[in-house]
Amino acid sequence: MKFNFARIPQILFGPGKIQGLPGVIGKYGKQVLLVTGKSSLSESASWDKIIMGISHEKIAWDHFSVQGEPSPGMIDACVMGENFREPDVVVAIGGGSVLDAGKAISAMWKKHEPVRFYLEGVGDGREHDGQKIPFIAIPTTAGTGSEATKNAVISEVGPGGFKRSLRHDQFVPEIAIIDPDLTVNCPKEITAWSGMDAFTQLLESYLSTEASPMTDALALSGLKRIAGSLEKAVSDPDDLSARTDMAYAALCSGITLANAGLGVVHGFASSIGGRFQIPHGLICGTLMGVANEFLLNNLLKNDTSSLAVKKYAETGRIFHETSNRDGIFYAEFIINKIHDLVEKFNLPRLSDFGFDRAEIENIARSTSCKYNPVNHDVSELAGMLERRV
Ligand SMILES: [Fe+2]
Repeated sequence: MKFNFARIPQILFGPGKIQGLPGVIGKYGKQVLLVTGKSSLSESASWDKIIMGISHEKIAWDHFSVQGEPSPGMIDACVMGENFREPDVVVAIGGGSVLDAGKAISAMWKKHEPVRFYLEGVGDGREHDGQKIPFIAIPTTAGTGSEATKNAVISEVGPGGFKRSLRHDQFVPEIAIIDPDLTVNCPKEITAWSGMDAFTQLLESYLSTEASPMTDALALSGLKRIAGSLEKAVSDPDDLSARTDMAYAALCSGITLANAGLGVVHGFASSIGGRFQIPHGLICGTLMGVANEFLLNNLLKNDTSSLAVKKYAETGRIFHETSNRDGIFYAEFIINKIHDLVEKFNLPRLSDFGFDRAEIENIARSTSCKYNPVNHDVSELAGMLERRV
């Protein structure tokens, strides 16, 4: 057995934990940069409470609001512009895009250089030394797990576009405050898309060629919560117990993806996400059923007793809640279950968001299967896309 396990943030988890934020900020200093989405949080009662708490502690604050997924221009404008005072700590409160933006801002503040130089596969090979402003991540969706990861995904969308990571072990947030109360207002559609993202991340890191006993334990723990609560969180947004399970599952998925890597669905999320403006969770959710169907069929053709087939079967047992059938039954059951969820959540097709059928071959050629248990060929990857265009 050999593996590395990255450091994780100090984790403050549970309903009501957001109330401790002013005290947590106070440990780092008296100047904070708050990073949020465009409007939903800053128009909510939660925001008023956060600002009252911070002001009560005599902490000065600036506010940077971001729209859409972080781009190099957005990060550069924040850290190299003149609008904000140098913070003692950066606090991002929002969905995955907001957390990634906050993470990148905390990483680039001291650099005064364009973030593009440091992006994997885009920059000029410059290595970041990890020096940054302390960073606190507070998710308001249950999905990407960015609160537990060491990378920020930055994208420039369009022809020649990219979706790449700014990554360093030191970029793991110092503290993650995961308060499921903050996810209760998350719209149904986003709950479904981000929930499927967390599900994909858990399953892909469980099946990953880099999985370890530690990531397996966390992936299974998260998958049990997905099985019990994903559908409930989507159908009954006020079910705090289901929201809490999903926040926990998303957190687990962040830790497992950071340590085991991901598979072909996230390969597509990267290749498609750089070319088309399609939300990350939607790409993952809409492709999850078909990608896993191809993957399992490919595995079964070669070796019905492989570790990956056994892991599919184990996942199926969690969702079926029985264990007296053979492994193949449960492996096939989980594929059908994922297809059912894609239908039930009415996940849009890629073309609904502007995906151009003519791009299938190009996208297939630029999709990575790193850490996937099968290295799919281009025709198989194209076949997956055909089914969800
Ligand atoms: Fe993801």
